[in-house]
Amino acid sequence: MSEILPAGRGRLLDKVAVVTGASNGIGRATALLFAAEGARVVVTDIDAARLEEVRGLIAGSGGSVRAVVGDVSSNDDAQAMIAAAVDGFGRLDVLVANAGIIPELDLLKATAADFDHVMAVDGRGMFLTCKFAAEAMLKSGGGSIVCLSSISGEAGQKGQAVYGPAKFVASGITKHLAVELATRGIRVNAVAPGTITTEAVKKLSDEYIAGVKAMHPMARLGSPMEVAQAILFLASDDASFITGAVLPVDGGYLAQ
Ligand SMILES: NC(=O)c1ccc[n+]([C@@H]2O[C@H](COP(=O)([O-])OP(=O)(O)OC[C@H]3O[C@@H](n4cnc5c(N)ncnc54)[C@H](O)[C@@H]3O)[C@@H](O)[C@H]2O)c1
Repeated sequence: MSEILPAGRGRLLDKVAVVTGASNGIGRATALLFAAEGARVVVTDIDAARLEEVRGLIAGSGGSVRAVVGDVSSNDDAQAMIAAAVDGFGRLDVLVANAGIIPELDLLKATAADFDHVMAVDGRGMFLTCKFAAEAMLKSGGGSIVCLSSISGEAGQKGQAVYGPAKFVASGITKHLAVELATRGIRVNAVAPGTITTEAVKKLSDEYIAGVKAMHPMARLGSPMEVAQAILFLASDDASFITGAVLPVDGGYLAQ
């Protein structure tokens, strides 16, 4: 484990946060950053071994952390992730609905089963965790939700006929929940990352990566921590008048 917690400025001091998909990639960077910023963090994932590494990193640096192994697409598991925050830390202030899968499937390759699987994890999983998080936040006066959309959730791309529509669901959940919850103290925003060097992206074909990299005006891929910093801003009280926003973190991709 080469990661160390970045130096924090207390931007989430005393907040309780749940991060889904925290074992790898963007979720892992976000959980480490949140802990460094003073949050008490519930880290959740289906990948138990890597989750234990993240839990150990945070606990080892003096942070307050609980880990829950579970599948966001399961109603009971999603409920248990939120309950871990309320039972363990007394409340929930922040949810980062990050867990997701990124298959590379074009329209002709994709099957009905592929579509259902991606929608179950990336769509239903986000819906369920947002639902149970909002329920908990309403009991303690409000909170902040940050969803993981994507450039694929804001514009069309080749080879993303299943994943792309699932990310439009993420942008849609963000806007609809933002309006529904706006007068009840809960802000709901999303980040729309460009292509980020995570475990999921490393599995994509060289051809896809080379093509998509060339489409980013900055001509490079982003890092998980660059996305985590944007998530931190939207999650924190610094973004107190921002709700329903889908913030590109994409090296200029969506500006074209
Ligand atoms: N990497 C990118 O280029 C990129 C770009 C835009 C958006 N995103 C979004 O960011 C999020 C994180 O992606 P990443 O690149 O860090 O991926 P990743 O594969 O590196 O990490 C995703 C994590 O989610 C977990 N996960 C998968 N299915 C799960 C389930 N059913 N229940 C609980 N956990 C589950 C995985 O075990 C993994 O730890 C996703 O929602 C993805 O769509 C990623």
